[in-house]
Amino acid sequence: MGSSQKSFFVFLLHVLVLHFVVLLTRAENITHAPEAIYVLGDSLVDVGNNNHIKLSIIKADFPHNGVDYPDKKATGRFSNGKNAVDFLAEKVGLPTSPPYLQNVNQNFLKGVNFASGGAGILNTTNDGTIHRAISLTRQVEMFGSVVQKLEKQLNTNGVHKHISNSLFVIVIGSNDMFGYFGSNSEFAKTTSPQQYVDMMISTFQFQFKALHMLGARKFLIVGVGVIGCCPSQRIRTKTGECKEDINLWTTKYNQQLKVLLEQLKSTLGDINYTYFDTYGALSKLITNPSTYGFTAPEEACCGLGKLRAEFACLPISHYCANRNEHIFWDLYHPTEATDRILVDFIYNGQQFVTPINLQQLINST
Ligand SMILES: *[C@@H]1O[C@H](CO)[C@@H](O)[C@H](O)[C@H]1NC(C)=O
Ligand SMILES: *[C@@H]1O[C@H](CO)[C@@H](O)[C@H](O)[C@H]1NC(C)=O
Ligand SMILES: *[C@@H]1O[C@H](CO)[C@@H](O)[C@H](O)[C@H]1NC(C)=O
Repeated sequence: MGSSQKSFFVFLLHVLVLHFVVLLTRAENITHAPEAIYVLGDSLVDVGNNNHIKLSIIKADFPHNGVDYPDKKATGRFSNGKNAVDFLAEKVGLPTSPPYLQNVNQNFLKGVNFASGGAGILNTTNDGTIHRAISLTRQVEMFGSVVQKLEKQLNTNGVHKHISNSLFVIVIGSNDMFGYFGSNSEFAKTTSPQQYVDMMISTFQFQFKALHMLGARKFLIVGVGVIGCCPSQRIRTKTGECKEDINLWTTKYNQQLKVLLEQLKSTLGDINYTYFDTYGALSKLITNPSTYGFTAPEEACCGLGKLRAEFACLPISHYCANRNEHIFWDLYHPTEATDRILVDFIYNGQQFVTPINLQQLINST
């Protein structure tokens, strides 16, 4: 090799190494990016499925939702902007998984989102005509149909590899809690809170095993947040403090969920997961708001009445100018600013993730 060729070669090598470093940094230190992200859950991660549920009023496809989304578009996200799955996808270097109901015949090789505003673990949560959502059970069935479609495109081995290299994100449980502790709960008349939590756990376990049977191996499981402190619950107390009964039983549910995941890992053997303690993380934001740039940890940004939580975020409602200083966008949902912080905790954090953070999960083979 002549010396000019040699220096050209060295130059090329530099370019390649630099390129590689840039790629690594861009995908935030990922060595084994997942092939796809499959999302199951509720309004915290819905990206537009409920737009397609005809009579349901559990929707966010109108202003002021999306006021900070590109083109100010109200996509069906229950947020002023992006939600947690948008940030998760960015971290991992994949596009946000599209809503399943937007086009059920699409090719979903990069993943798909089944999450539905109002959805619960239990079939009975929001199964009315106008309060209607896609239950976790139904979402798992939908994933089953996606797997059947994948089997037509890839061979059996290929499908197995694809699914086991994909990330499953599950964010659910809040609506079951709201249902039980709501003002006209049928369950509360006949079932103790402990029995109800046990039902949530056993149903979750059943659906988790169904996903495992379909090939899922890597999970991000998000616990239920400190929902007694969201504006809709605060206005039910005299002084606007957090509602303790729902927080207490949410804590119990989260504890049982953590134990269940440990058991599932030891019995199934071939899964890895990240459990995110949203309850702890959100509590930290609410009790140390200024550390994270928040000035209004209690009130909703968009809505009407006390704490802007007596009426939902509708086109006639007011919305705040300082959205980055609010933890809550509307009476139930976090702002884009909150979700950005929570996803940082999930991805790189040490404190609220068990047994490993998402970056470690993704880099486990
Ligand atoms: C990526 O890894 C480097 C070196 O280990 C570390 O300094 C940096 O904080 C990591 N970045 C992220 C986003 O985790
Ligand atoms: C929930 O609904 C599914 C059908 O989507 C049904 O197979 C299942 O038995 C139901 N579970 C309960 C506990 O009713
Ligand atoms: C789980 O993580 C461990 C440690 O990184 C790894 O050795 C194992 O292969 C992973 N298992 C699966 C099913 O991804």
